[in-house]
Amino acid sequence: MKRTIILAALAAAALAPMQALPQGAKLKVGLMLPYSGTYAALGDAIEKGFRLYLTEQGGKVGGREVEFVKVDDESDPAKATDNVNKLVKRDNVDVIVGTVHSGVVMAMAKVAKDSGTLLIVPNAGAGAVTGAMCAQNIFRSSFSNWQPGYAMGEVAAKRGAKKVVTITWKYAAGDESVGGFKEAFEKGGGQVVKELSLPFPGVEFQPLLTEIAALKPDAVYTFFAGGGAVKFVKDYAAAGLKGKIALYGPGFLTDGTLEAQGADADGLYTTLHYGDGLDTPKDKSFRAGYAKAYGAQPDVYSVQGYDAAQMLAIGLAATKGDVSKKAEIAKAIEGAKIDSPRGPFTIGASHNPVQDMYLRQVVGKDNKVIGVASTALADPGRGCRM
Ligand code: PHB
Repeated sequence: MKRTIILAALAAAALAPMQALPQGAKLKVGLMLPYSGTYAALGDAIEKGFRLYLTEQGGKVGGREVEFVKVDDESDPAKATDNVNKLVKRDNVDVIVGTVHSGVVMAMAKVAKDSGTLLIVPNAGAGAVTGAMCAQNIFRSSFSNWQPGYAMGEVAAKRGAKKVVTITWKYAAGDESVGGFKEAFEKGGGQVVKELSLPFPGVEFQPLLTEIAALKPDAVYTFFAGGGAVKFVKDYAAAGLKGKIALYGPGFLTDGTLEAQGADADGLYTTLHYGDGLDTPKDKSFRAGYAKAYGAQPDVYSVQGYDAAQMLAIGLAATKGDVSKKAEIAKAIEGAKIDSPRGPFTIGASHNPVQDMYLRQVVGKDNKVIGVASTALADPGRGCRM
């Protein structure tokens, strides 16, 4: 009897640390972001936002401390599968957070879907990720490319534009952004008369600007972001088009770029799910915390990083840090109202935010919110009920 008890106690003692391990072990978060190239500043802002939320939570999600493994994806779709496999197969991460570029995220979504690894996308708006490729373990904290484009299509039509030329990088983000714009703009009675593009991340805008000047449209709709957006806005002004042909775009055109764009961005109208001067208690505390931590003002990318961490924390709180319980994680995130600095939002049937699109105007160094262009706008990719 005594011997049995001792043996049982020994067995329990031997098992205890093993059972405790998943709870006690650090949560490995793979950050796959651009840390170089035209989107480098976007990757940096996303990581800062993510870390800020974590710090606010005492460094833990689902009761587990977090350790990071980082990969610079260079916004290069050709390297994307190798890069994401490094995180999943070599580093054995529990969750992947990334990325910015729509072409890169497609490879990430495929690997996440095949391996079952939890993926939270803190920017890249590729429609397929929360459409045809949607999965129980894939979420987005940002937007679909269609969303801000659609909102701007309505705004441009209401502001009286009839003929518009579009110009963008030729890849999913630009194409889908233009698609959203065109859908709403043509519904509103406008016409897209020419679609111009150049390869990502090219910045040889001059010949295209000459073409725009010759076409004389009422307005131009454009998708560029990061370093490319800085140069485009400056080149547009240098070509003498600013003030002559209205320039519209999703807010990526002027977010995180105003210092570098200076007066050339003044007065521009954009649509986005974040902006300056929201003046809510949540946004105020977020901005104060961000400024204190980094000595810089946050932008939309910082917000998306912050909310990616929030969504992860919501999911893992429901499972006490167990990443294997996919259905429970999904249920918790699907049912949540996320307390974002952009304003509260929910996650739609295909795991994309349902959110307000603000109309903003550049005033000095601010993307000043001047109204709501579309309320609770959901991506039309609703084909993925889970
Ligand atoms: C994208 O590739 O999906 C993308 C990149 C940068 C942005 C927005 C979308 O600012």
